[in-house]
Amino acid sequence: MAVVGLVTTGTVRATERALAPISLVAEGEQGVTGHVLLSHSLLDAPRRLVDVYVLSPLAVSPAHQRTGIGTRLIERALAEAEGTAAPLVFLEGSPVYYGKRGFERADTLGFRSPSLRIPPPAFQVRRLSCWEPWMTGTLVYAAAFWDLDCVGLRD
Ligand SMILES: CC(C)(COP(=O)(O)OP(=O)(O)OC[C@H]1O[C@@H](n2cnc3c(N)ncnc32)[C@H](O)[C@@H]1OP(=O)(O)O)[C@@H](O)C(=O)NCCC(=O)NCCS
Repeated sequence: MAVVGLVTTGTVRATERALAPISLVAEGEQGVTGHVLLSHSLLDAPRRLVDVYVLSPLAVSPAHQRTGIGTRLIERALAEAEGTAAPLVFLEGSPVYYGKRGFERADTLGFRSPSLRIPPPAFQVRRLSCWEPWMTGTLVYAAAFWDLDCVGLRD
């Protein structure tokens, strides 16, 4: 499996911000088997707004799940994020899955969720090497997340 960069357009990807989107695909013999996107959002920290990444979506084709592709996409995306000025990568997801892949529950680290509809254990963060202890506060999703109504869970 190869993980390669992907240049595409779309509502989330097209958001012009300080952090360029990181979009990766996994390719197998039969074509694309997985995809991950890191896009820009803001952390409303006491000192100032901080540019951060949000990991969403992550998807592996059903026929190729549980073979390590998701794990490798996350590892590669985090390595790419380390090469930027981003101090943090947030996501919504399974704490079991992402907890084994370097993410921590965000609310216990001083971060506030962007929505009450995100179960607290699902609101997670990975602190990168640029992170400093004053960088706490509320995650403010980019407008595309609200435009697409893809935040948290609905009844
Ligand atoms: C979740 C998903 C990205 C995992 O990718 P993957 O390539 O199958 O995962 P990997 O092979 O790297 O890792 C396998 C592990 O994931 C776990 N796993 C697989 N699907 C899972 C799911 N839906 N929820 C929680 N854990 C899951 C396996 O139990 C296994 O656990 P282990 O590490 O304890 O052995 C993939 O199943 C998928 O695309 N699901 C549908 C879309 C989705 O739910 N995306 C996540 C949105 S936050």
